[in-house]
Amino acid sequence: MKKSVITGVGRYIPERVVTNFDLEKMMDTSDAWIRERTGIVERHFASAEDTTSLMGAKAAEKALSMAGLKAQDIDFIIFATLSPDFYFPGSGCSMQAHLGIPGIGAMDVRNQCSGFIYSIITADQFIKTGMYKRILIVGSERHSSGLNLTTEGRDIAVLFGDGAGAVVLEASDDENRGILTSKLHADGQYVKELWVQNPGSNSIPFTNHAMVDDGSIYPYMNGRYVFKHAVTNFPAVIFEVLADAGYTTKDVDLVIPHQANERITEAVQARLELPREKVFRNIDKYGNTTAASIPIAISEALDEGLIKQGSLVCLASFGSGFTWAATLLRW
Ligand code: ACO
Repeated sequence: MKKSVITGVGRYIPERVVTNFDLEKMMDTSDAWIRERTGIVERHFASAEDTTSLMGAKAAEKALSMAGLKAQDIDFIIFATLSPDFYFPGSGCSMQAHLGIPGIGAMDVRNQCSGFIYSIITADQFIKTGMYKRILIVGSERHSSGLNLTTEGRDIAVLFGDGAGAVVLEASDDENRGILTSKLHADGQYVKELWVQNPGSNSIPFTNHAMVDDGSIYPYMNGRYVFKHAVTNFPAVIFEVLADAGYTTKDVDLVIPHQANERITEAVQARLELPREKVFRNIDKYGNTTAASIPIAISEALDEGLIKQGSLVCLASFGSGFTWAATLLRW
């Protein structure tokens, strides 16, 4: 059976930096509150031109370049986002048009913070069955246009940032490289603990002024509840993939967790009993970029020399749904 190997990685971070001090001017918050509880110092907000799909295309072009490929070499697109350009159709289709590669399949994955890992695991199955050889997987988010950037929305608004990351996953005959094992989980009883209620087909009509007035068009999070589940499920799914592949935490070169919150990452690191340098973080610079956070992190970890050929790397996520997932790969 073919192995799936990441051959290209790229990131696109919009130019505009929004510091905690900038947020202080928009709402009743403080740099100290945000730093202490989340580890976030600044995030980037996209310009009006930088749609979710366009940022995805920009990250994809960098991943293609690293892989030494042209867009035309790609067989299939998987696009993960919770902030799509449109309610429908999916942003994978829009990005395909930006890249100028009509005809190949493109699908969106709506698994929020776990969207990228759900996507790479899906791509791995296409490669293993031999259906596709080169798949472009993109995580992209433009949160800034969907946040309530006033005091009313401050508990959520300070957490999120914009950006995109992409990887090229290719079929390989090298038995010693690529994705070794993966695990996917969800528990839908917690849908309402981290969600955007409206607009949606659960409401009749789909949208109305009352939704705008009552704020249900903005994300809601039960922060403490999410924290509690994240610090349990993140380590559990990491232990699960390690055990499945016959490894322990001592064998891991780098864990790349979804960048949800520095305090969550610290708790995961403690539970795994790993040194700080083996658990990647960049939330201070970008905030939570949801589906984009893991491919952005892979791209930066490569630039920083933290991943080398042969490294054992574990990607892990937890988020809205609740969903959580991990994949273990040999670089
Ligand atoms: N600035 C200043 N004060 C704030 C802000 C803000 N941005 N937001 C809330 N507050 C106030 C609250 O109103 C409250 O005030 P009160 O005591 O007068 O009522 C006080 O700060 C404490 O609020 P809590 O919500 O209890 O704050 P908590 O200590 O729980 O921290 C946080 C909130 C950081 C969200 C925490 O619950 C947490 O870490 N949750 C984890 C979830 C998370 O980070 N998710 C990321 C997205 S989901 C994902 O990717 C998995």
